[in-house]
Amino acid sequence: MRTLPELFRSNRQWAERLKADDPGFFTRLSNQQSPEYLWIGCADSRVPANQIIDLQPGDVFVHRNVANQVIHADLNCLSVLQYAVEVLQVRHVIVCGHYGCGGVQAAFDDQRHGLVDNWLGHLRDVAEKYAPLMSALPPGVDRVDVLCELNVIEQVINVAHTTVVQDAWDRGQPLWIHGWIYALEDGLLNDLAICVDAETRPADARRAAVEACRGRPR
Ligand code: CO
Repeated sequence: MRTLPELFRSNRQWAERLKADDPGFFTRLSNQQSPEYLWIGCADSRVPANQIIDLQPGDVFVHRNVANQVIHADLNCLSVLQYAVEVLQVRHVIVCGHYGCGGVQAAFDDQRHGLVDNWLGHLRDVAEKYAPLMSALPPGVDRVDVLCELNVIEQVINVAHTTVVQDAWDRGQPLWIHGWIYALEDGLLNDLAICVDAETRPADARRAAVEACRGRPR
């Protein structure tokens, strides 16, 4: 129980498999990483970034937290964003939520869940902001899933508003911010019709994406 031998065994088998396919793989990666993507996703064990987009080590820089939040004062997320944009020069930031997110569900109900409720306060603000849209949805529509989409849209806007991204655009650095959602039931990603770049007004992008969310067949 103290050493988890099964995980070391599978790690060694994994490394052997990769080396058999490409003997120089680890040597090359140990010298340099140049990922094209930053993934900001939920910590949920069922939403592993590399596997979902079928990318190898070295291809995607990853930040995950409960309910894929981008909070303006979160030094952890901002530091990842800064390093990815300024040092690694990623070209795409992907905010990826998922349907059936426990964090979104927790922000939506009236129960206490402990410390995490403080983290989810920002998400409760999102729920409150979109309360009129949510209450106008036809009966039977899963409100949590709609809030999962709206949450991604808001976090894309939060990324776009950071000084890191604003400075990159001011320098003329090409950088696109995308909003996606993942379905646990079929393993498929869906684009939430929001992509913000230097030419986009974030408020316009938000409005269009919220309209698309409202009109999406469910
Ligand atoms: Co989640």
